[in-house]
Amino acid sequence: MGNTLLTERDGALVVLTLNRPEKLNALNAELLSELDVSLAALAGDTSIACAILTGAGEKAFAAGADIAAMLDMSTEQARHFSELGHRICSRIERAPFPVIGAVNGFALGGGCELALACDFLYASDKAKLGQPEVNLGIIPGFGGTQRLARRVGIARARELCYTGDTIGAEEALRIGLVNAVVPHADLMSKVKDVAGKIAKKGPLAIAQCKRALFSGEGVPLDTANALETQAFAMLFGTSDRREGMTAFLEKRAAAFKGS
Ligand code: COA
Repeated sequence: MGNTLLTERDGALVVLTLNRPEKLNALNAELLSELDVSLAALAGDTSIACAILTGAGEKAFAAGADIAAMLDMSTEQARHFSELGHRICSRIERAPFPVIGAVNGFALGGGCELALACDFLYASDKAKLGQPEVNLGIIPGFGGTQRLARRVGIARARELCYTGDTIGAEEALRIGLVNAVVPHADLMSKVKDVAGKIAKKGPLAIAQCKRALFSGEGVPLDTANALETQAFAMLFGTSDRREGMTAFLEKRAAAFKGS
């Protein structure tokens, strides 16, 4: 494995940094493979409470799939490339801990799609987001047409995907693509604050909360509510929920153990 993905542990937090800053962190096969392998390993690590995904350097989260690498791709290679991107986005969504996207600059094409797979996004005031694939004669291939529509509504997703327009952080906030815009220099500390707050909660509860929110999207409400009931009841069999409730009644901070 190379060094196109940096992984940094900070207690119960893990920061994943897309690391090809000289190419604005464009997503080539090497970087995507590293991300795929890393996410697969992290999914089984119960010591992680929250992950942060960001880009190296001052300019980009990721400026898209690597166009130079895509130039000579056959149809079959493109299918595999798209499937790899989908698998990674799915790993982010199915991770048993939240993944917060810290959008520190350009998040275009596949970069925007990776961001969309995150639980939610905080953006630098310098961030620019969009799905410019139509400028290259292709469409989003890592779930952009679907997740963008779910995040911002189908009409705005159509407009962004058809025009290929890039929008700034404030516009992304206005349409609900990102949760907050923060001064560029403060982005990581702000995201780490939020991640740290999540890390203090019961990890089993957070995992079930993430799962219920994810699994419930796009299924009939009754089915989604049944999933919630199942998770709610299951948590009553954990020692963390007894600790959480007891701590409240004893007016002290809960000490969750993840069991
Ligand atoms: N794939 C491959 N290389 C990319 C890339 C991508 N998606 N995005 C940027 N790069 C490379 C550039 O080719 C350049 O490499 P070089 O220095 O070897 O020439 C380097 O990253 C810096 O990019 P540059 O274009 O010089 O920076 P800029 O600040 O002038 O422009 C962007 C920034 C994001 C507007 C511009 O790079 C861009 O439009 N990138 C492509 C965005 C895109 O279409 N993404 C979707 C792909 S499906």
